[in-house]
Amino acid sequence: MNIPQAFYDLAQQEDDFLAAVWQGLGSTPKTLPCRFFYDQRGSALFDAICDLDEYYLTSTEQAILQDCAADIASLVGPTGVLLEYGSGSSIKTRLLLDALSPRLYMPIDISRDHMLAACAALGRDYPHLQVRAVCADYSKPFALPAVASWGRTVAFFPGSSIGNFDHREAVAFLRQVCRQLGSGDALVLGVDLQKDPAILEAAYNDAQGVTAAFNLNLLARINRELQADFDLDAFEHRAWYNAEAARMEMHLMSTKPQHATVAGRMFAFRQGETIHTENSHKFNHTLINQLAFQAGLQVRMVWRDPAMLFAVYCLTKP
Ligand code: AVJ
Repeated sequence: MNIPQAFYDLAQQEDDFLAAVWQGLGSTPKTLPCRFFYDQRGSALFDAICDLDEYYLTSTEQAILQDCAADIASLVGPTGVLLEYGSGSSIKTRLLLDALSPRLYMPIDISRDHMLAACAALGRDYPHLQVRAVCADYSKPFALPAVASWGRTVAFFPGSSIGNFDHREAVAFLRQVCRQLGSGDALVLGVDLQKDPAILEAAYNDAQGVTAAFNLNLLARINRELQADFDLDAFEHRAWYNAEAARMEMHLMSTKPQHATVAGRMFAFRQGETIHTENSHKFNHTLINQLAFQAGLQVRMVWRDPAMLFAVYCLTKP
């Protein structure tokens, strides 16, 4: 693995994983935290999801960024640092690197090797860019290496990953981002908009079954890493829109009464019982205004695609 100029490992995933799985499967209803989707195989599957026709989020956000990156650059002025939460393969990042020309890129991601491979590719294409990768779980509080001396910071949180949080968690996360920023610094935030549930449900139930494989990989990962014996043929991917909560939900449904053992602890499943594996909240302008206000950020600008599927916000710290 090609290590970038600087690498900070702040993640303690191993101890965390078993405790979280025991806790989630011991709850009623059963849940598993979505951050554990992103092992090596899960990260590759997520990249494949982003290429699906049904999963309009990625291509739509990419198109919006193509149009608005120059506007963002003139709005925030000369930029020293680009920070990215959940950088993954750092594909959309390139549009901001091109427009903002920061001297330092600091990606933050839970999927260590996937991020390091992305950094190696970026290092080849942007030879003058300093890269300091941080392996961390951004859903929990953590302290980033200080970057203020590098000048204006732009934080980037694309993909509508903020939708994985409930409202309270989203505010807490944005407050943490706000603390990381200086006065006048910006957050570029991608959010998936509320729309016809049929479009949403197609995006999370693709015809090729890539999303199903992504969801089921969570059980496969538990089997691989935690001495578990889930029968992968006896669970099915389910995804639907929960209108009251304005969110897509992903579940893994047990197709029969069964037991599974994880590191010596046994869990029973009824036929039709589900493990709730992900929420992806969908937004509108009022909700984003509310979140920004509660986090102490100002909405400066918003860009949307013509079909109003997705929005990119520029928020600044006063
Ligand atoms: C990366 C969290 C934004 O919620 O749409 C894709 C993950 N889940 N298909 C999303 C995901 C199912 C994705 N995020």
